[in-house]
Amino acid sequence: MAHTGSGEAAATITTYEDGPLLVRGDFVLRTSAGETIDPGRATVALCRCGKSAIRPFCDGTHRAIGFRAGAEPDRGPDGRGDRRPGSPDPA
Ligand code: FES
Repeated sequence: MAHTGSGEAAATITTYEDGPLLVRGDFVLRTSAGETIDPGRATVALCRCGKSAIRPFCDGTHRAIGFRAGAEPDRGPDGRGDRRPGSPDPA
């Protein structure tokens, strides 16, 4: 994890209940091809629902489509699992 010299993370990503991921701090946003995307500001909301017309940024469409994702990490039915792709099966 990247940290500043003060012990704080360089960037913070916050999940918003049934909405975007809010990214604050010192970050670089890139396409899958490695091209840099100019966010135009220091704080951005990244689409999590996949329906924004301005992906990767959120345009508020998640509200219109009733997107549901909660705000907390999905830890699986036992509450212990690591749900990241490629993670070992927690069972
Ligand atoms: S999360 Fe807001 S438009 Fe997708």
